[in-house]
Amino acid sequence: MCGIVGAVALRNIVPVLIEGLRRLEYRGYDSCGVAVVTADGPQRVRSVARVAELDEQVREAHFEGVTGIAHTRWATHGAPTVNNAHPIFSRDTLAIVHNGIIENYESLREMLRAKGYEFVSQTDTEVIAHLIHSLYQGDLFAAVRAAVQQLAGAYAIGVVHKNQPHTVVGARAGSPLVVGYGKGENFIASDGLAIAGSAEHISYLEEGDVCEITLEGVRIADRAGNIVTREVRDVQAYGAYGGAVDLGPYRHYMQKEIFEQPRAISDTIPATDAFTPELFGDNAPEVFKGIDSILILACGTSYYAGLTAKYWLESVAKIRTDVEIASEYRYRESVPNPRALVVTISQSGETADTLAALKHAQSLGMEHTLAVCNVATSAMVRLTEFKFLTHAGREIGVASTKAFTTQLVGLFILAVTLGKLRGHVNAEQEATYLKLLRHLPAALNGVLALEPQIIAWSEEFARKENALFLGRGLHYPIALEGALKLKEISYIHAEAYPAGELKHGPLALVTEAMPVVTVAPNDALLEKLKSNMQEVRARGGQLYVFADADTHITSEDGIHVIRMPEHYGLLSPILHVVPLQLLAYHTACVRGTDVDKPRNLAKSVTVE
Ligand code: AGP
Repeated sequence: MCGIVGAVALRNIVPVLIEGLRRLEYRGYDSCGVAVVTADGPQRVRSVARVAELDEQVREAHFEGVTGIAHTRWATHGAPTVNNAHPIFSRDTLAIVHNGIIENYESLREMLRAKGYEFVSQTDTEVIAHLIHSLYQGDLFAAVRAAVQQLAGAYAIGVVHKNQPHTVVGARAGSPLVVGYGKGENFIASDGLAIAGSAEHISYLEEGDVCEITLEGVRIADRAGNIVTREVRDVQAYGAYGGAVDLGPYRHYMQKEIFEQPRAISDTIPATDAFTPELFGDNAPEVFKGIDSILILACGTSYYAGLTAKYWLESVAKIRTDVEIASEYRYRESVPNPRALVVTISQSGETADTLAALKHAQSLGMEHTLAVCNVATSAMVRLTEFKFLTHAGREIGVASTKAFTTQLVGLFILAVTLGKLRGHVNAEQEATYLKLLRHLPAALNGVLALEPQIIAWSEEFARKENALFLGRGLHYPIALEGALKLKEISYIHAEAYPAGELKHGPLALVTEAMPVVTVAPNDALLEKLKSNMQEVRARGGQLYVFADADTHITSEDGIHVIRMPEHYGLLSPILHVVPLQLLAYHTACVRGTDVDKPRNLAKSVTVE
């Protein structure tokens, strides 16, 4: 999703800005651009192609400057065209880049039109440009501070003005922005990794902050207008963020990341012989004793990790667990429980809806919060009392894979930890769970070896336009995740149901043309699931079953079976999701889609 980089220096800063955009590419975007300040006003180059293409354009044009802003745009208001790409100008004197959504842009646009401003793009960003322009009286820092008072919604912005050739002003509310401190040059960016190497230190701006960066230094004003300081931290080397990740023998990052799961999981399992609350934070032993329920908030794949965790938390720890889609929770009237532990799950830790839901829960008096997250420096990790860091490593493919399975590991550890604390897990069970966890990487390798069989199925799937996914109990969220993976990268319409629900409606969709993917572990619901499969077969539906070794489900007419190497008890979802990831991946490859950057999607969803 949109990414911002800005810089003030004494050298040509365009290569640094372009490199920053390249490092932010993983967030997803559909256009990009860069502007520098010149004596004639800001000049820009924009593109609806990739950052590499923008780079070629600036090189060919010998486009240079010492002060500039750059942007990758993920379209919200207005199509992804060059005209809507940022930087957006106001009257050829001011340029702005913006991440987020301005909710009151229509009323602001009318007000600005009445003042004589013309709108040439379809973006909400253009109102911010004109608004700041209308308030400018020789001090860009002051104009931006006045302008943000009038903005409703979420934003991170970077602004330059013709009359201040060595100044970039930034502001944030709801979308992330950092300032970076270099030697005689300073920066802003959506993420520290964009400027790592050029900036030696960074500060995270807080909600409502406005910053001014010049050659001399950085000034930050808080929402009330007071000049403040923000903690200065070392910036991690770009390599520490994952650097330019080598694809190795893989065709796509998604495939690489699927195959990295054994390693990612083993890195995520703490080197401990016991499940102790300290794994989540120093104060956790005390706080965890006092909690009486769990509220999980997340989006997309992370939400499905939460749904799986509900089964574990309620069956192992016997603690009531609610799981809510963050974008719904933040706007509905709920009954807050101050004794609940609020658990946010997020790969990026920057998902706008999940961050807003977390803040909403906090505002309702739920002070005990835990982030299960893959990015140690993310806003979510900074906002929560407790953390469990997954060590999946950088995930580049938009479709989440290793982040999901490592989240499941973290959530299972939480369930056993709470189960132990609440007297529902004895020492013998604890040892069994630990052993199961430790064996997971090896078990996963066994599942990854099924790839050739899955490739054979993917040829069939690539010709379909619809698919159903069935699971029961603990594996229903896995069916949901399998359907999400297939639709997001292969663009095949897929839906998932708890298998018992089939007869209440979706069975009407089943014909010979409908592939029905079935997650069939050898658990207590197996016989029920087999009956549901018969319901599908009786209507001519084609079943594609991932069956545990001892389920006695065999291939026959209309039933295609891939046998999982071993049954994995409570942790079975972590194994069963992997063939679904591979099925989605190979189906997408056969269909020739852009697997790592599927259309319309972004890796880090930093707008509502
Ligand atoms: C998964 O494949 C997705 N692309 C998406 O659903 C993702 O899980 C969701 O946007 C949440 O992201 P987060 O984990 O970074 O918060």
